[in-house]
Amino acid sequence: MSIEMVLEEKNKCIQQYLEKLLPENEGYPIEIFEAMRYSLFAGGKRIRPILLLAACEVVGGDTKRAMPFAAAIEMIHTYSLIHDDLPAMDNDDYRRGKLTNHKVFGEDIAILAGDGLLHYAMEIMADACCKAESILEVKAMQAIAHGAGIYGMLAGQVVDVISEGKKIDEKTLQYIHEHKTAAMLQGALTAGAILGGADKDTISEFEEAGRKIGLAFQIADDILDVVSTQEELGKPVHSDERNGKTTYVTLFGVEKSKEIISQLSQETMKLWNKFGKRGNFLMELTEYLMDRRR
Ligand code: IPE
Ligand code: IPE
Ligand code: MG
Ligand code: MG
Ligand code: MG
Repeated sequence: MSIEMVLEEKNKCIQQYLEKLLPENEGYPIEIFEAMRYSLFAGGKRIRPILLLAACEVVGGDTKRAMPFAAAIEMIHTYSLIHDDLPAMDNDDYRRGKLTNHKVFGEDIAILAGDGLLHYAMEIMADACCKAESILEVKAMQAIAHGAGIYGMLAGQVVDVISEGKKIDEKTLQYIHEHKTAAMLQGALTAGAILGGADKDTISEFEEAGRKIGLAFQIADDILDVVSTQEELGKPVHSDERNGKTTYVTLFGVEKSKEIISQLSQETMKLWNKFGKRGNFLMELTEYLMDRRR
């Protein structure tokens, strides 16, 4: 089976699980459920939950145990996209091939839909902690909250928006990318490894792999913003230029940026190698992400 087909299978599985958590025509007031469902089921790649489940599996864990956390991290990611697209932030009109949340439901409901997804994600993880009565669930929740919050994604988004239209150096840009994007991938990989019962050293290695894949993933996003099309990406191109963002492309150009991605990818492979054959999926996934088209 090709990596694309494997990813589609995994995507379907996550989709079904999310459907159960947020069923259609349920919930009051219905407006918020509609707006949350609109973005959550608009068709993302589901990279974060896929990484979380893969990390759990590769260290020998049961992915069933990790499903609530996989769902939660996708909800948090989707919330971050809804807010990222708002007029006060990147002001983008398309996401996942559809009009952005605020374009359809208005800014007020879009803000609340983002908040709704974030809070529901926390509730789902806390429920899993209560049911399992295990410290591993609590630690996984902690890793995800850390990756998403003021020491992670949110911090990166803050430095990203306050740096608009300003000249920033490589160190600041790396800080932005490692926080706004890599921190969530780190959260996914470490939470998965924790739930799979990995030891402390392995968890630290997954954290570092998440940093590298995440940084490379955002550099690829910077490149795609310049070289791709809205049809392929499902979101507008040249958004970064319009918003006066410094990116890896503006600092280093496309070719050098690709070299940095390739270096980060090679370094990540060294970790996956340690798992022998079992690490194959993570290797293929890393390769796929480094060379992604969307
Ligand atoms: C978009 O993330 C935001 C970035 C961190 C670059 P994805 O590229 O994973 O978006 P979806 O979830 O597939 O829509
Ligand atoms: C956003 O980075 C990362 C998030 C935390 C949402 P971008 O602003 O570059 O992401 P896109 O290009 O809108 O998906
Ligand atoms: Mg942004
Ligand atoms: Mg954006
Ligand atoms: Mg972008």
